[in-house]
Amino acid sequence: MTDNSAAFFAHTLASWFAACGRDLPWRHSPTPYQVWVSELMLQQTQVATVIPYYNKWMAQFPTVESLAKASLEAVNGLWAGLGYYRRARYLHQGASVVVDHYGGCFPSDISELQKITGIGAYTAGAIASFAFGMDVPAIDGNAERVISRYSGIYGDLSHGDPRRRIEDFAQHVVQIAGGAVINQAIMDLGATICRKKADCDKCPLQSQCYAYRNGLVEALPQKKAKSPKWLEYRSALLLESSDHRYLVAMPKSDALLGNLWVFPMQTIFREREDASDAKHRADASTRQSRKTLWQRMLSDLNPALTQVVPMPTKLEITHIFTHIRMHILVDIAKLTQPAQLLECAGGTYEKYAWLTRDQILTSPISTMMKKVVLRMPEIT
Ligand code: ADE
Repeated sequence: MTDNSAAFFAHTLASWFAACGRDLPWRHSPTPYQVWVSELMLQQTQVATVIPYYNKWMAQFPTVESLAKASLEAVNGLWAGLGYYRRARYLHQGASVVVDHYGGCFPSDISELQKITGIGAYTAGAIASFAFGMDVPAIDGNAERVISRYSGIYGDLSHGDPRRRIEDFAQHVVQIAGGAVINQAIMDLGATICRKKADCDKCPLQSQCYAYRNGLVEALPQKKAKSPKWLEYRSALLLESSDHRYLVAMPKSDALLGNLWVFPMQTIFREREDASDAKHRADASTRQSRKTLWQRMLSDLNPALTQVVPMPTKLEITHIFTHIRMHILVDIAKLTQPAQLLECAGGTYEKYAWLTRDQILTSPISTMMKKVVLRMPEIT
């Protein structure tokens, strides 16, 4: 890196940001709490999706104290639909840490911030620069992409020499243009122009960009080898009582979809997607009868459910999680008893409830569950 190149980057991007930066609700003189909430919401989720969630969240939990006092159910209810539900739990736990250990005031020190649940190096940098006005970097995937292209940094950007070069550059430009301005400018350039598929003709840095000048925009940053996803088939059971309620279950808080209602599910196949013949063997497993599997599980939950005969339907939902490609095969069974006689407990879930379809849709549920519920009329 030359000083000239960093200075051009910092000054040009700061001017571009003043003219073209996005006006977002969490950018209006934010408190550390507002930056923290927005950054957690923005991890893995698009800005346009986050905005209504963020506004609703701040109306309900305007301060870290109000979040610490809330129940995890209320928190999950507000998060429902955003995905990656661990983030909501981190916010809830982290709020208690801020209140109990820091008297409700976020520390401004980067390493102290990282002691709070849900705050890593990037989020600490974002809070310190946006809320405390400190000239420290906040390096996320966007920043890595922008800097590696501009400076021509090859290799795995997560450690070693490439990491050091990214950090040195980021450190240098925050000193020149100020942390709040340059960090947000890099974010906006990465989100709107220097995207994976870049729009270089709109880029203010084009003339000095290493990747552009050398025809390497598509080659940088170099891709890390990704570990293959799990291929998972699950059977979900729609168990309907005579008064049209459905049995729903809540996975434990550290499980996938923890604290959100799902139809009871059982895994019938799980292997790495790239294992030889995985798809073929998965198809074979799904053709096997699931009756015994369900009968065993249900009789454990309530002895009155011993005689239930689940029937397979043609309803199949696919949902992609970060590490799992999940196919949900829906089975159905109708009961002759009303829900009040069928209280369920035990098994692998935290708790159970009997809810109508409308109640399910207004309870904390994931996008995956919503897909199933919206397609229920096809089979019930
Ligand atoms: N992506 C991650 N953090 C962001 C922020 N603060 N503003 C816009 N996009 C973001």
